[in-house]
Amino acid sequence: MTSPEPAAALASAGPAVRVEGLTKTYGSGETLVRALHDATFEIGRGELVVLLGPSGSGKTTTLNLIGAIEEPTGGSLVVDGVEVGALDERGRTQYRRDRVGFVFQFFNLVPTLTAHENVALVAELTGPDAGARAEDVLTRVGLGERMDHYPGQLSGGEQQRVAIARALVKEPPVLLCDEPTGALDVETGRSVLALLRRVTRDRGRTVLLVTHNSTIATMADRVLRLSSGDVVSDERIEAPVDPERLVW
Ligand SMILES: Nc1ncnc2c1ncn2[C@@H]1O[C@H](COP(=O)(O)OP(=O)(O)OP(=O)(O)O)[C@@H](O)[C@H]1O
Ligand SMILES: [Mg+2]
Repeated sequence: MTSPEPAAALASAGPAVRVEGLTKTYGSGETLVRALHDATFEIGRGELVVLLGPSGSGKTTTLNLIGAIEEPTGGSLVVDGVEVGALDERGRTQYRRDRVGFVFQFFNLVPTLTAHENVALVAELTGPDAGARAEDVLTRVGLGERMDHYPGQLSGGEQQRVAIARALVKEPPVLLCDEPTGALDVETGRSVLALLRRVTRDRGRTVLLVTHNSTIATMADRVLRLSSGDVVSDERIEAPVDPERLVW
């Protein structure tokens, strides 16, 4: 006898991300910018993929399209089984809440809330027991002792770990990180990268990590290189470097 598959199980079949002919242009005529041009790639579940490229190459654009922060000009995008282009505004909001987590260069924490409150705020949107879930994930990122501190009382690396906890508390299948170590010193950056590495290895989550630093890219399972809006190479790394050993 076969029983119907739960929706979550259906959604988790297939790759984490499938991008086909994805294109984003800004402006028109003389001012037209091709931020991303005809990108096609798939990202498997549990992969840590670095998007590498110089300033202006289209890294943030790619991340923002996958995160449904921006709408593509053309092409198709399927994330965790969801055809993102087919969603209406309400569907896009739900998608951003349930399927993707964001980590930014400058943390974007609410300064008047404690670490715990910052994470609980997002936990409340996505299920019961928000306080306990926030506590659990903050402990996992090594901030069990600092939960009641305000962002201003935490170091940059600690603030970024709060931001990662905030993204993880939703248990999103895909984590989108835009230069997450850009504002950190090397040592602190390494611990943040090690945390992101653990997130993929231990919990099977897919991580897309944007950087312009080719040394950081050596910790990835795979590197997609962008140049002037084109994906110019797609390289699998057989033996990713332990992030704790990176020097940049
Ligand atoms: N809202 C916008 N309006 C017009 N052009 C834009 C907009 N956002 C991005 N662009 C342009 O699209 C191109 C790609 O930008 P994007 O932000 O994706 O680059 P990036 O690789 O993330 O760069 P960086 O490393 O500096 O963050 C650039 O030429 C940029 O100027
Ligand atoms: Mg950028």
